[in-house]
Amino acid sequence: MRVLVVGGAGYIGSHVCRALAARGDEPIVFDNFCSGHRHAVKWGELVEGDIRNPADIARALSVHSPDAVMHFAANIEVGSGETQPLDFWDNNVGGVINLLKEMQAANCRTLVFSSTCATYGIPETVPMTEDEPQAPINVYGRTKLAVETMLSDLARCGHIDYAALRYFNACGASPDGDIGEEHDPETHLIPNALKAAAGLGGKMKLFGTDYPTRDGTCIRDYIHVVDLADVHLRALDHLIAGRGSFACNVGTGDGFTVREVLDAIARVTGRPVPFEEHPRRAGDPPVLSANTARAKSLLGFEPQHSSIDEIVADAWRFHQKVWAAELAELANQEQMEIA
Ligand SMILES: NC(=O)c1ccc[n+]([C@@H]2O[C@H](COP(=O)([O-])OP(=O)(O)OC[C@H]3O[C@@H](n4cnc5c(N)ncnc54)[C@H](O)[C@@H]3O)[C@@H](O)[C@H]2O)c1
Repeated sequence: MRVLVVGGAGYIGSHVCRALAARGDEPIVFDNFCSGHRHAVKWGELVEGDIRNPADIARALSVHSPDAVMHFAANIEVGSGETQPLDFWDNNVGGVINLLKEMQAANCRTLVFSSTCATYGIPETVPMTEDEPQAPINVYGRTKLAVETMLSDLARCGHIDYAALRYFNACGASPDGDIGEEHDPETHLIPNALKAAAGLGGKMKLFGTDYPTRDGTCIRDYIHVVDLADVHLRALDHLIAGRGSFACNVGTGDGFTVREVLDAIARVTGRPVPFEEHPRRAGDPPVLSANTARAKSLLGFEPQHSSIDEIVADAWRFHQKVWAAELAELANQEQMEIA
């Protein structure tokens, strides 16, 4: 199968390209590198382009005639959405409208879309099923929900078949340390805590220690990016087999507190994470975790790599490569201080 991977130079998209190629499918990466990395484009051809420019998408579709599209490209940094909402609507929604129009013109009707648990907002019940009300509390979540609504309208009219995959917390890296998480700014817990543990990032800020959870810190559902890639292949196969459009949670059903993640980092790396406690942040619910029954029954998906120690070990292997120069410099300084 030939699959156009829009945003394929990014964190999750590059892992999906790797998984597609591993089973003999042909990914074609479409990316403008606004947050992706050229070194992450290792599987399949590259089309450099921007989804805000319809001609770029038309060119990619006409040259490669993909059987399906997977769409990862978006503005993802939640805080920026609150200060630059129009950029988010332009890229996250306007970009998808362009993509869908060009897909329609090229007679390509299968789409796997990166949605998010942020479309639920503050949950009434956890673990959340897909029937949890979708009431996002930020611009990022609202743009993703807008796309889900649009996709469901198009599918109802028989124009497309789609899967909206509502990811929880993506994390980890490829086990060979080849590709991994490299956002800038990085807002995710594990890479930031690893940086602090490595002595490169100062103290990590731990927001909220008085939540009604087992140790007072927030619980999140961490899914290994290799498992996440596997779900995409299953979703694609489901659509291509004509089994119909769907939305589904992608998590583990389990969750870890922030302190448990920091403990895992100390255990795996042998380095404790220096951190300082801060008050709660607005909009952080105590627990976000997925009810995973639908992913299991519809796609036969069960996570295989999402133990917290495996996630941290893979992420650490990757980051040690990325930070090799800084780590060597730090080790040098420490040697000189000892001498
Ligand atoms: N990382 C997570 O934990 C997480 C959780 C839930 C949902 N998601 C969703 O998954 C998707 C991928 O996330 P990620 O962490 O891999 O992000 P990322 O920033 O690493 O990847 C996004 C990619 O899209 C590209 N891109 C952005 N705008 C573009 C445009 N206009 N034209 C062409 N390319 C463009 C970027 O250059 C980058 O390569 C996003 O849609 C995000 O909302 C991520």
